[in-house]
Amino acid sequence: MMRLIVCDNQQEIASLGADMIAEVVKANPKAVLGLATGSSPVPMYGELVRRYRAGELDFSTVRSVNLDEYYPLAPDNDQSYRYFMNHQLFDHINIDKSNTNVPDGLASDPVAACAAYEELIRNLGGIDIQVLGIGGNGHIGFNEPADALDPLTHLTDLTEDTIRANSRFFESEADVPRHALTMGIGSILSARRIMLIATGEAKAKAIATVLSGKLTTASPASMLNLHGDVTILCDRAAVSLCDEATIAALS
Ligand code: F6R
Repeated sequence: MMRLIVCDNQQEIASLGADMIAEVVKANPKAVLGLATGSSPVPMYGELVRRYRAGELDFSTVRSVNLDEYYPLAPDNDQSYRYFMNHQLFDHINIDKSNTNVPDGLASDPVAACAAYEELIRNLGGIDIQVLGIGGNGHIGFNEPADALDPLTHLTDLTEDTIRANSRFFESEADVPRHALTMGIGSILSARRIMLIATGEAKAKAIATVLSGKLTTASPASMLNLHGDVTILCDRAAVSLCDEATIAALS
């Protein structure tokens, strides 16, 4: 089932998202959180930090797995997703860093590292809630539009569009890694619950495709229609290409 919550602002999204994470963590202090980088979840991470500081949340036994990482890129590079997670969240809450997992951007054998990442997720007992952002082209993780999609964690080539979009964070386009390690569509769909955060007009087309209810590899996020428990937290702009009847039916 897909549930859509159209919010008035980023703070409302952050607060509802943090409510969902808090519910999972309070029900199971050893919960496994599937986390994403990018700008979409940042306000929610800020809200989780605020609630931790207020004594409302305890992450001491929580585990986490992140969706993806550039390859090759060192974890201490300030563009790595490991660095991002430490700075946006892990350094500010009481999570044990050894319980946090991000694919290894320096793995000497990336194929083996991807298989090991799948095994790690299995050994943790699976993901209780997976946080996702969405690309303007409908990508989730680094699962880009393609003729065929990978089910499991894999090494992937970044598209020219993604390299260009991400070059704003690097000194030059040439510095953007050409590859990434990413969970596959099946890894994502195996999470018990999924929360997708989308804001702004740039996401409107991708969200309209998801909400059409159809599946297409041209928009990997559309595969979320196969899942039984997806909550989309978005703003008005992100649903500006959806008709009111569709919005009302899912709200
Ligand atoms: C991040 C990730 C990406 C982003 C997506 C949206 O770990 O896997 O799929 O979620 O590119 O990025 P933002 O939120 O920056 O618009």
